[in-house]
Amino acid sequence: MNTKIPSITLQDGNTIPSIGFGTYKLKGSDGAAAIESAINVGYRLIDSAYNYENEGTVGEAIRRTSVSRQELFITSKLPGRYHQYDDALVTIQESLFRANLDYYDLYLIHWPNPSRDQYVEAWQALIDAKKWGLIRSIGVCNFLPVHLDRLKEETGVLPTVNQIELHPNFNQEEQRNYHAANGIITESWSPLARGNEIFQNETIVQIAAKHQKTVSQIILRWHYQLGAVAIPKSASPQRQLENISIFDFTLDEADMNAISTLTKPNGRMKNQDPAIYEEF
Ligand SMILES: NC(=O)c1ccc[n+]([C@@H]2O[C@H](COP(=O)([O-])OP(=O)(O)OC[C@H]3O[C@@H](n4cnc5c(N)ncnc54)[C@H](OP(=O)(O)O)[C@@H]3O)[C@@H](O)[C@H]2O)c1
Repeated sequence: MNTKIPSITLQDGNTIPSIGFGTYKLKGSDGAAAIESAINVGYRLIDSAYNYENEGTVGEAIRRTSVSRQELFITSKLPGRYHQYDDALVTIQESLFRANLDYYDLYLIHWPNPSRDQYVEAWQALIDAKKWGLIRSIGVCNFLPVHLDRLKEETGVLPTVNQIELHPNFNQEEQRNYHAANGIITESWSPLARGNEIFQNETIVQIAAKHQKTVSQIILRWHYQLGAVAIPKSASPQRQLENISIFDFTLDEADMNAISTLTKPNGRMKNQDPAIYEEF
């Protein structure tokens, strides 16, 4: 199987792997073993967060593999309760201490939490942490165009990446178009819609049979051809390998359109609309 992962150039000149590994709920020794396995099967981008309480687990997995730090692309995220500028800077350092790293390749603001209205100062902290070498690239998650416009107006710096909920039930076409127009790379969270009923979807099952691939591979190839960086999570080494084995076939236009038209206006899994949903 061809698992060589192409990379994408970010607007700051750094590169990001075009598929990565999600780690939500991977913690402790089972989590470290799962992340170590993911690195050994070929993942280089590892997505974690301060709020997943597993930055230490990621650091442990990195120590266990023979893959060098320079080959890896490690991400973490700033929680909503630490948006205040000084808190944000301390939190970034705390993330680094927990993971036992000198720098993150990518650090993201986890949610905009607009009612608090502190995401611009959090963004300024990320801009400064990048200048000081604590972070190579900076980005956000779950930011709507209105939030991104404000970052641009008030700091002059746009995120390199916006990590958003994106799967066949919610294809985020409008948001992706905004990203493309502004040089922002889309990262897809819950790219497999958490592996629920999507695996039985007749349209995707048929496309999988046509290409002799699994449903998961079809969905992840769809993300790749949309230009979005998917970060599927799996605790199983076999499924981890399956999920990055997507670079030896191509979906045609009809396949892409058929998957994209499965989207629904209320297709978010848990109705987490960033205009109102908040997480601290
Ligand atoms: N920024 C944000 O606000 C945000 C929000 C949510 C998630 N995230 C990030 O996005 C990552 C991915 O999202 P997610 O973990 O919510 O969901 P996901 O990756 O869409 O789905 C994970 C689920 O699918 C199963 N699965 C994976 N590969 C499979 C395969 N080939 N066949 C069958 N089942 C498969 C997994 O089970 P097994 O483990 O048993 O294989 C797991 O139950 C997270 O881990 C996290 O890093 C970010």
